[in-house]
This record gives sequence, structure tokens and C-alpha cells, in this order.
Amino acid sequence: MIYLDHAATTAVAPEVVEAMLACFTQVYANPSNVHRPALEARRALDRARQSVAGNLGARQPGEIVFTASGTEADNMAILGLARAHRERGDHVITTRIEHHAILHACDELQREGFRITRLPVDEWGRVDPQAVVEAREPGTILVSVMLANNEIGTLQPVEEIASALKGSGILVHTDAVQAVGHIPVDVEQLGVDALSLSAHKFHGPKGVGALYLRSGVRLQPLVFGGGQERGLRSGTENVPGIVGLARALELACQGREERAERLRELRDRLVGRILGELSGARLTGHPELRLPGTASFVFQDAEGESLLLQLDRKGICASTGSACSNATLEPSHVLKALGLPLQLAHGSLRLTLGRENTPEEIDQAAQAVVEAVGRLRSLAPRARS
Ligand SMILES: Cc1ncc(COP(=O)(O)O)c(C=O)c1O
Repeated sequence: MIYLDHAATTAVAPEVVEAMLACFTQVYANPSNVHRPALEARRALDRARQSVAGNLGARQPGEIVFTASGTEADNMAILGLARAHRERGDHVITTRIEHHAILHACDELQREGFRITRLPVDEWGRVDPQAVVEAREPGTILVSVMLANNEIGTLQPVEEIASALKGSGILVHTDAVQAVGHIPVDVEQLGVDALSLSAHKFHGPKGVGALYLRSGVRLQPLVFGGGQERGLRSGTENVPGIVGLARALELACQGREERAERLRELRDRLVGRILGELSGARLTGHPELRLPGTASFVFQDAEGESLLLQLDRKGICASTGSACSNATLEPSHVLKALGLPLQLAHGSLRLTLGRENTPEEIDQAAQAVVEAVGRLRSLAPRARS
């Protein structure tokens, strides 16, 4: 099997499993209690918070709020920030290519009476910082723009957007779920007020994420109860998950640049071979300003879901940007936003590389894609006629 679906999720690193195992079997007390084992659990939690804060460039560990997923961190940011600042305004700006964790949270805000501007992107999937500035209105309270797109890997000019909005009183959130652990992410340098991340995207466990929330920024909680996480996210802390997240982030940050360089080389080799050997194939997303491990394509006359099945038969795990509903294949909102012709957008493929992939695997995968697309085209009615 050749796993090329790292943007969907990653294997948990052995060092992370090891750190987590100790929490399951030894440091298992409830950190809210006062006995010694509880204090030990509290210390493990504090160490994890400190480590995550350090690796994100946060000023204080208290700026990290642990959540049960990247989705929850995104929901907290959108709903929690907008609701907490309702008295200042009712307008939120985002983009058309955000993850559904952002877009659907914005839909919910709209049902509550907020006004949402969903900005378009260019053909590479980049939002223009000037367009964000121009979309401001007197009632704008929040801007949310993702750092890296999950389907096409395009990086967004979040630092420029935050810098342009500095001093305006408008809060800036970024969904950095695909970016953290893969490219440098420093909250102070980015100048954001809130940032979401998710452990399973960088070899940590599933079901645990975090929201960076700048000290002093008000947020209305979504989950109520025992007042954990400074009252922002109640519920007994997932100590093994949180310790795993912190360890995974430490490992991801160590030697990140060398790993990214290697991934870029492998990605470019894959892209070069596929585009070189197939006509009617296009890279989607920005050619340079993209995640190191993301290669995403559209193919003429080769439907994405069929391509995935063909590749799966050859032992290659990939994914597509299309969401299938009632047997009608709708291109994803991201591919639609790029303005691709529908016929092309139906043939999408995402190959996302990870640290364990080898050059041999990349060559095999490229060969398999070329053959699978060729086979689908030979079966297509147009090709037969
Ligand atoms: C950009 C982005 N945001 C949010 C999420 C949601 O994260 P989680 O799977 O932890 O809920 C994902 C996951 O695919 C993502 O890619």
C-alpha cells in the first residue's frame, strides 16, 4: 500500500503513542482533583500547554485552549468570537474556500442574524488582502481566512491580512489545521487573534485539537459544565490526547525545514511526471505558494471517484475534492471557487505526501495515475466514438 492521503489524516508517531500510553495507564487521574495522582495529571497537562504555546510562538501557555477536534476549534472561533462581540457589530468576513467547519459555522451565524461576506479567490485559490480590507464595514467584527487549503494546498496571505487590519478592532482568526507542523506557524508573527489546529494532521491522535486565543480576547464558550480550560471549554480534559498533541507538535517542529524540503522535492517529482506524461492534466492551487506535501490535479475526461477506485486497486490511497451526493457528482466548493470548467473539476485528484513516502513510491504512484487516467479515458464514451 502507498499512502498518499496525509491531508486526510496521518499515522500516530511511535514516540507519540509512547507518551500517550503512560497517560492511559499511569497518569490517569482527573486533573481537577487535589490528590497527588491528580496533581501529576495536572502537571502533564500544564507541560503540554506550555510546549504547544512555545511551538506556536504564543506569549503565554494560557492562550492555548484544548478542544476535541480542529472542527471544534474552528466552531469555537467563529461562533464564540462573533457572539461575544455582538454588541460591536454583526458582520463577519471569510472566504469561499474555507473548510466546512468554518463555512457551516458561518451559516449558523447567518441564521442568528449575522451578515457574512464570503470572498472569492483567484484561479490559484488565493484571496487578495486588499479585497479583505475593502470588504470591511462599520459593523465588521471578525475575519477568518485559512492558512493553507486542505484540497489544493494553497497558502493564504494571513500575515498581510492581519497586518492590514491591525488597530482596526477587527479580530482575525486563521484555520491552520493543514499548516501546523508542516510550515512555520508563529502566532505573533502572523498577528492573529485566534488560530485552530488539529493533532491528527501532524502524526498526533485523532479527536484532539487546540485553539490559540490571544490573551484578553473575549470568547463565548460553546460547551458548558465544570469550567475546565478557563471556563472556555468544559469537560474533563483528554490528558492522553493532549499530551499526544503536544509531543506530536514537538516532533513536527524538530527538523521541519529539512522534511519540508524533501517533501517539496518528492511532490515536484510527482507533479512533473504526471503533467509530463498526461495531456489534459492541470495542477490545481498555487504553483509555489502551497503546502510542501500537497499535489492536486484535475484531469480532462477522467472522473475523480472512478480514478480513486482504480488507484485503490493498485494499492494507492488518494482522495478527491468531489463530494458525492445521490450519485450526482458535485465538484467541491473549492474547485468551483477556482472557476474551473465543470467538466475538468469532475476529474479531481489529491495526493498528499508524508514523511514515510519514498522516491520509489512516488514513481510508482505517478505511473499508476498515468495508467488509471489512460484507462478511464479509453472507456469514456467520447474516447470510444
Ligand atoms: C482545513 C481544515 N480545517 C478543519 C479540519 C477539521 O479538523 P478535525 O478533523 O480535527 O475536525 C480539517 C480536517 O480535514 C481541515 O483540513
